[in-house]
Amino acid sequence: SVVILDFGSQYTRLITRRFRELGAYSVILPGTAPLERIMRERPQGIVLSGGPSSVYDEHAPRPAPGVLELDIPILGVCYGMQFLAQQAGGEVRRAGKREYGKADLTRYSGDLFAGIQGEFVAWMSHSDSVVTLPKGYEVVAETEDTPVTAIENTQTRRYGVQFHPEVVHTPKGGQLLANFLTICGVERDWTAEHIIDELVSDVQQQVGSGKVLLAISGGVDSSTLGLLLARAVGENLTAVFIDHGLLRLGEREQVEAALKPLGVNLITVDARTEFMDALSGVSDPEEKRKIIGREFIRAFEREARTLGSFDFLAQGTLYPDVIESSGGLHSEKSGAANIKSHHNVGGLPADLNFKLVEPFRTLFKDEVRALARLLGLPEHIRMRHPFPGPGLAIRCLGAISEEKMDILRRVDDIFISGLREFGLYDGCSQALAILTPIQSVGVMGDERTYSYTAALRAVTTDDFMTAEWARLPYDFLATMSNRIVNQVHEINRVVYDITGKPPATIEWE
Ligand code: XMP
Repeated sequence: SVVILDFGSQYTRLITRRFRELGAYSVILPGTAPLERIMRERPQGIVLSGGPSSVYDEHAPRPAPGVLELDIPILGVCYGMQFLAQQAGGEVRRAGKREYGKADLTRYSGDLFAGIQGEFVAWMSHSDSVVTLPKGYEVVAETEDTPVTAIENTQTRRYGVQFHPEVVHTPKGGQLLANFLTICGVERDWTAEHIIDELVSDVQQQVGSGKVLLAISGGVDSSTLGLLLARAVGENLTAVFIDHGLLRLGEREQVEAALKPLGVNLITVDARTEFMDALSGVSDPEEKRKIIGREFIRAFEREARTLGSFDFLAQGTLYPDVIESSGGLHSEKSGAANIKSHHNVGGLPADLNFKLVEPFRTLFKDEVRALARLLGLPEHIRMRHPFPGPGLAIRCLGAISEEKMDILRRVDDIFISGLREFGLYDGCSQALAILTPIQSVGVMGDERTYSYTAALRAVTTDDFMTAEWARLPYDFLATMSNRIVNQVHEINRVVYDITGKPPATIEWE
């Protein structure tokens, strides 16, 4: 593997992504992780990431003692390169001004650049620069402003780049990272087939002949996990899908049709009445979320008890949720959690005493999607937009009722099916319909109407922390509006949300 020591750069996660795309397994550890922790990953190469510190800061984070002495290749990126240079006796100095943006390498050579040809555009973001080269090192790339842009010591196999090879603004950065993998001798076998084989045998080892319980939400993570576990432990898996009545049109049937034929022992629990009763008359959005979370755990626990005893609870936790990193990830997450209390289907019932099985802890979402394809999950689930655990309840503003859920379900289905029909679905990161409590006067034939307003929202985003509203074609929106008011008589007005996040959120609630 390649271990990436994180010194706080916003790009650290991208380095892992690039290596994995190149078929090499790589993990992120905090920059100051102890040597034993690093060795547990059996590293064949190490990357020192960028970061906001200056190597001369008193409190600048440093790799643990012993790391630099390891007899494996080390690549320093930005701060990482400055650190390598300073440790080897070179000099790093604050440049007059911060260099930020694209720069052309005026020359490049050496092992890291092997086989790369033509123009090399590099993304720069630094204030410090290496000004005196340490002994044993050679300058292998420069730009107009930065004479020491890349360095290498082929004897000790230490490499440094001042720019960020991991970002898309460095188009040939992937080739450079691939060269580093070659230097390290890392196997490039981190492919979906390989991951499945490995996960199946890991699960078998962990679980033995124990019984495993899994909550299925209908999303890609839990569905894929269901397929993987069915392959690993067969009948010893019980997957429970709770129909809380807040699902999309036909969703329950779709999930059943996708998983059962592939050998997943799936049990659907009809808890619609309980959820509806518990939510009756409740209009505060946070209150709704709390009730749904509570009812979910109740229904899940009750079902688990009737089904017998289980040794393990499986969860579809992904790598971004667990990264041991000093970067901003965790603070971002807790920040978001303060705005809305997120609830994920499968939230752990506290007192059932399960051991956890989390086979996806090392994977990114797109890796899970790649597994899903091989495991046979249908395309419409595999590439589905995210859908919140509390379902349509949070998209129906104010108190919900059976009737309102039914209206929203039909509007939502017209919109989502329409996006698919017009080939626009995959271009949006998420699309949703909202039932507002606004009623207004309209005219239908010769009749005056007094009906609800539905809102449509579609966004594009990379990380769901910020988002832009999707520029859907007017003609498409016109078609959607016509279909909705013609087919759903309870609606006489359709609006499209043209607000970004921030200041709005993606959901309306
Ligand atoms: P907001 O509305 O906060 O949503 O901009 C960001 C993303 O989170 C999803 N979301 C949830 N997902 N359980 C989930 O699993 C939840 O309780 C929940 N609430 C919001 C939302 O759909 C969007 O993708």
